Amino acid sequence: MLNLFLDSADIDEIRDVYSLIRLDGVTTNPSLLAKAKNKYGSPVLNLKVVYNFVTQHGGALHVQPVGTSYEEIISDAYYILDEVGPKTWIKIPVTEPGLAAIGKLSKEGINITAASIFSFTQAMLAYKAGAKCISVYCNRAEENGIDYKTVIKSIKNAVPDVMLLAASFKDIKQVEEASFSGADSLTIKKALLFSALNDSVINKTVRTFKDDWAEAFSSNTIKGE
Ligand code: G3P
Repeated sequence: MLNLFLDSADIDEIRDVYSLIRLDGVTTNPSLLAKAKNKYGSPVLNLKVVYNFVTQHGGALHVQPVGTSYEEIISDAYYILDEVGPKTWIKIPVTEPGLAAIGKLSKEGINITAASIFSFTQAMLAYKAGAKCISVYCNRAEENGIDYKTVIKSIKNAVPDVMLLAASFKDIKQVEEASFSGADSLTIKKALLFSALNDSVINKTVRTFKDDWAEAFSSNTIKGE
């Protein structure tokens, strides 16, 4: 089953997209929260509003600790769970301290997304430490000469049961390649998601239908207006 997340920390944008399509949740990172600044009072208040909205719609919110040492990650994780919401998925970049934090928090039953994944081995470490979701960063991989498609395929092949969340996209082609390679879950920014509708082939196709009709009936609608 396909899970689609919005990569955003902007509640207005999130509401807007939810009004158009069904989503499975929202993912954020410190850079997205920094961009929103204190727009909603504080980053944590912002996250709380997003958490309430997303969980009321049956989805999940994935939040990344800002701290990078083991102690900071653990402390940020508990703070997020207390202040944002108890069902928040903690999104942890898989570094050495990150892996230790994934192990500890997973044992406590906390849902972990292993983030900033760039290799099969890194993913396996996170999976074996207890992460339920593995997030491969496609464009950041490609920019560094890493074939994200092979990374996704190898993870899917070894652990078909893990939630494989492809993230970090520069264009629709990367989204399609990630899905084709086996990603069952995708997190996409709003602008990129809807850029799929601004396509010359779509526009040409729609125009042809309308032109054919207009030529025959001199109107723009079936009603005849
Ligand atoms: O959730 C993905 C995000 O954290 C990284 O995406 O677009 O900044 O590479 P991006």
